[in-house]
Amino acid sequence: MNLEMQGRVAAITGGSMGIGKATALNMSREGAKVAICARNKERLEATAREISGLTGNEVLSVVADMSNKDDADNFIEATVRHFGQLDIVVNCAGASPGGQFQTLEDDQWMSGLNLKFMGYVRTARAALPHLQARGWGRIVNVIGNDGVKPTFNEICPGACNAAGINFTMSLAEQLAPQGITVNCVNPGPVDTQRWDGLEAGIAAREGLSAEDARALTNKSMPMGRIARADEVADMVTFLASERASFVTGASIALDGAQRKAIINPL
Ligand SMILES: NC(=O)c1ccc[n+]([C@@H]2O[C@H](COP(=O)([O-])OP(=O)(O)OC[C@H]3O[C@@H](n4cnc5c(N)ncnc54)[C@H](OP(=O)(O)O)[C@@H]3O)[C@@H](O)[C@H]2O)c1
Repeated sequence: MNLEMQGRVAAITGGSMGIGKATALNMSREGAKVAICARNKERLEATAREISGLTGNEVLSVVADMSNKDDADNFIEATVRHFGQLDIVVNCAGASPGGQFQTLEDDQWMSGLNLKFMGYVRTARAALPHLQARGWGRIVNVIGNDGVKPTFNEICPGACNAAGINFTMSLAEQLAPQGITVNCVNPGPVDTQRWDGLEAGIAAREGLSAEDARALTNKSMPMGRIARADEVADMVTFLASERASFVTGASIALDGAQRKAIINPL
């Protein structure tokens, strides 16, 4: 399948690690010019060098904190200034605090909403005029299955993710006549640094060793394992390609049919 990504310009938030990095590598391999952002400069620049070394294509790195509007605007502007256009936006920089209702204060709710929801909103808003100028565009939001499979132990991520899915669908409807598609993918557990932290939280909560927490996670996965970052990145790359030309407003489960109640017992 030819994804026709040669010459496209993609801006990927949270591109220095995990799913964002795997997506950046995929798109660069497909011939796209890729810009990535994250907060840690050293790791970001190392990732850009690594991907560029593997693919032979230029990768731009821009230090940015997507919980901050000016940084989000600057990431998009720097990408367009450097590459001359923008075709694809992937929102991947996100996290929101887990935990049960009574443990969460206003500032934790606001930090989740500010990064995981508003971070995606402000990046899409900054990118939109550039996509409209091209008359073609792809916005892919990496959200999470808490948004469609709520659990009491992840009430804040669930609410932030549900908002993100709703935003994705609304924006898709508005932008479809302009040749711009907007979709989201909803991973369950993915083998990244973020999941390691979340699983450590499960271990502490349930009084389990790291091995037992992983065994419990795997038990919740009908395939018996969690996802790899590249498995999520492959779907994101497809949605960002010409091949997904009639896919918009889609909310795609990438959780191996996870049964969340198994890792969140009452
Ligand atoms: N892993 C999972 O199990 C899982 C499941 C469902 C959904 N997701 C979602 O998938 C997305 C990617 O997760 P991941 O597992 O790939 O995470 P990860 O391995 O922890 O990587 C996160 C990336 O985002 C960057 N980042 C974090 N906060 C940022 C901020 N405020 N501004 C800019 N960049 C920021 C990180 O770099 P810096 O720290 O240097 O900024 C890093 O590049 C997230 O939205 C996450 O909620 C993940």
